[in-house]
Amino acid sequence: MREVAVLGIGQVKIGEHWDKSLRELAGDAVLSAVKDAGLDQVDALFVGNMMSASANHQQQLGAYIADWVGLRYAEAFKLESACSSGASAFRSALLAVSSGVIDTAVAVGVEKMTDSPGAEITAELATAADSDWEVAQGISFVALNALIMRRYMMEYGWEKKHFAPFSINAHANGVHNPNARFRKPITEKQYLEAGMVSDPINLMDASPIGDGAAAIVLVPADRLHKITGNPMIKVIGSAAATDSIAVHDRKDPLWLKAAAISSQKAYQQAGLSPKDIDFFELHDAFSIMAALSLEASGFAERGKGPQLGLDGQIHPAGKIPIATLGGLKARGHPVGATGMYQLVEVVTQLRHAAKGSQVENATIGMAQNIGGSGSNIITHILERVN
Ligand code: COA
Repeated sequence: MREVAVLGIGQVKIGEHWDKSLRELAGDAVLSAVKDAGLDQVDALFVGNMMSASANHQQQLGAYIADWVGLRYAEAFKLESACSSGASAFRSALLAVSSGVIDTAVAVGVEKMTDSPGAEITAELATAADSDWEVAQGISFVALNALIMRRYMMEYGWEKKHFAPFSINAHANGVHNPNARFRKPITEKQYLEAGMVSDPINLMDASPIGDGAAAIVLVPADRLHKITGNPMIKVIGSAAATDSIAVHDRKDPLWLKAAAISSQKAYQQAGLSPKDIDFFELHDAFSIMAALSLEASGFAERGKGPQLGLDGQIHPAGKIPIATLGGLKARGHPVGATGMYQLVEVVTQLRHAAKGSQVENATIGMAQNIGGSGSNIITHILERVN
């Protein structure tokens, strides 16, 4: 297998893009990534998206977007794994280039959620859960996570206020990200007094819906310096794992086994352990997911995730910085695009271009994208090598 590096990145600001179609959003991200890469063509396009069929009445995203960006006749597909669709697209592009079958590939994650009323989007998000055993009972995605959070608080003795640092850190970092949905810091008081969505999850525990697209161009590592002067950023670990789609089918609903498996495999490939990771773009769709992801990926002991936030260890100068450009909570969570935003942000940090929330001397970054409530999890590790 060949070593693969990131040649170009592109993204659009997350928001309510009522004036742009799905293909225009994706196209803006792809074209800016291809421009950043210094190329005018790529060989293949991989699209990550969750809900285009229901929210935008559009399938066939491979051909639909390839044609729009001038790649008619190129190989192009859509990958879907709910909220981890973006990382699925990236992993597919990575495998294609590393196998030697494809020379240059672009992965794009795109989602357009705000054209639909909130109730419809809530129903569409719930398709990431088990339709027979979870959704048939009337549960929403927020409610599923609320059950997990309530159970976690009961098992480990945490109170609601102990989760505040996750949201405060994400919003503080989002201020420095021009592409973030929210760019205002919040206080602990605002966190505690935010409106309840599904007890104990309030507005400040939940990621917002939004429209967005982010893209990355991948090439064999030995080609990089022939094309741009950008620092070499290699993908040194990539692994995916699944779990039961229904939370109640898990032996332990408070342990993200797919996160543990995928992160362990990625560490092994990279020859690293959690202490070597300079920052972690985790999937903080809800505060509880940030805690569980830190634990399953080896950054905190079981049941101790919130302690890292309380000890001040998750901000850019801490032991394990997370959500460094706002995370899902403040940058936003256009579901099928999110995994690509995380990876674009890892590259931004490794290029030392993250401005106010730059992690000093960032060399190794990790991203973890979670589909469903822990049922499809993909971990990537990237390294700056010069
Ligand atoms: N955090 C902070 N502020 C938020 C927010 C969030 N998550 N969501 C919305 N807001 C703000 C809006 O900017 C708006 O502010 P304004 O009045 O100053 O303009 C206000 O709250 C109301 O926005 P609105 O879009 O009407 O919110 P809503 O009540 O329809 O939706 C949620 C809020 C939390 C229910 C919705 O964002 C949601 O469903 N989030 C979870 C999405 C999800 O499950 N994703 C998959 C996870 S894997």
